[in-house]
Amino acid sequence: MAYVSMKKMLNDAREGSYAIGAFNIVNYLTAKAVVSAAEDLNVPVILQTSVKTVKQFGIEEFISFLRPICEMAKVDVAIHLDHCTDIEYAKKCIDAGWSSIMFDGSKTPLKKNIENTLIVKEYIAGRDITLEGEVGSIVGVEDDIVVHANDAAYANKEDCEKYLKETGVDFLAPAVGTAHGVYKGEIRLNYDLFKEIDSISPVPLVLHGGTGLSDEMFNTLIDLRASKVNISTAIKIAYCDSMYEYSSTHRDEHNPLTLDDYVYKKIYDLAYKHINFFTLRKGSVNNE
Ligand code: 13P
Repeated sequence: MAYVSMKKMLNDAREGSYAIGAFNIVNYLTAKAVVSAAEDLNVPVILQTSVKTVKQFGIEEFISFLRPICEMAKVDVAIHLDHCTDIEYAKKCIDAGWSSIMFDGSKTPLKKNIENTLIVKEYIAGRDITLEGEVGSIVGVEDDIVVHANDAAYANKEDCEKYLKETGVDFLAPAVGTAHGVYKGEIRLNYDLFKEIDSISPVPLVLHGGTGLSDEMFNTLIDLRASKVNISTAIKIAYCDSMYEYSSTHRDEHNPLTLDDYVYKKIYDLAYKHINFFTLRKGSVNNE
């Protein structure tokens, strides 16, 4: 049995001073490669799905091939819905079998964010499903949610405290200066804010915008008890670039299976080095 809720996974990580990698997979190949890397390192992992990706396949179709990958895995795997802003869509994924949901109400005022998060919280009551919430707006584009740098709002401690107390979410993603997508310009992380929010949070904190952070940034945030680290853009880049790399150097070959093998290995390597660094605190993410 390897298909689990994220609560124990992240609570253990918070206690143990490591973080679990959450990778935004886009299809069967990427999901298999991520789980296989986690198995080889013998540590838990999170398969994260963007709403847009789920819509591409359809809820039932997507979960029907993800679930067996998790159930057959040799390590604990959770399936988490990332940045869902639509309560009804979140409910459908909950009913279909996602083990964790992020409801993202961060673009609405705090009061509305709390009200909407509570609707999802009530919906999962009594089920072994976890809920992640967001306070402050993380810059960049994730799925179709666009937050411009000018609209970026660092979370504040008081808002987080109120949100945590009133919603009872299982994990909190506070905006502390990371961004979705490829970083443009200087990365300005507010470590003190992260530390302050962690000190008042009864639940583990989540770090969004993992692509492009340096080893030192990851290390500092994990030392400050970031318990889940999200990686999406790096997967998309590795996937598209490796496909191009292989196709452009094998112009006379038209074998989808060898192309898949090549792409799979690239995703596996990417997941392996991140998981090794986040979970076992070994190696390096930025060693190329
Ligand atoms: P990146 O795309 O920057 O890796 O961010 C991932 C993320 O936070 C998904 O929610």
